[in-house]
Amino acid sequence: MASEDVSETLTGPASAPLLALDALAPGTFAAVDALLDGIEEPLILHRAADGAVRAWLNVCPHAGRRLDWAPGRFLVSKDGLLVCAVHGAAFEAVGGVCEAGPCRGESLRAVAVQVRDGAVWLA
Ligand code: FES
Repeated sequence: MASEDVSETLTGPASAPLLALDALAPGTFAAVDALLDGIEEPLILHRAADGAVRAWLNVCPHAGRRLDWAPGRFLVSKDGLLVCAVHGAAFEAVGGVCEAGPCRGESLRAVAVQVRDGAVWLA
């Protein structure tokens, strides 16, 4: 079951958009950097087929590595799971929970975002 623990959600300043919404097609993932608590952090953005946009730190809970195999290039299973390129942990794209692999049951760390003015912003 997906975790919706918002107490772990990171937030940051919302002075510039993270990405134009047009650059994030439904069903895809993108990598951006954002300033969170004064530290530049790599983020994963995801736009679901229903239009919902979610974000997580691009840090795998297994070994702390980025999930993309090249900057902004993510592996996605045929079931739509986000697969870490390092050791294959597979995360569902709503709560960011690992459903298979070496960190099963752990979650990506959510980052609060919102869509406005045709772009994705930190919330
Ligand atoms: S670092 Fe992601 S599965 Fe090991």
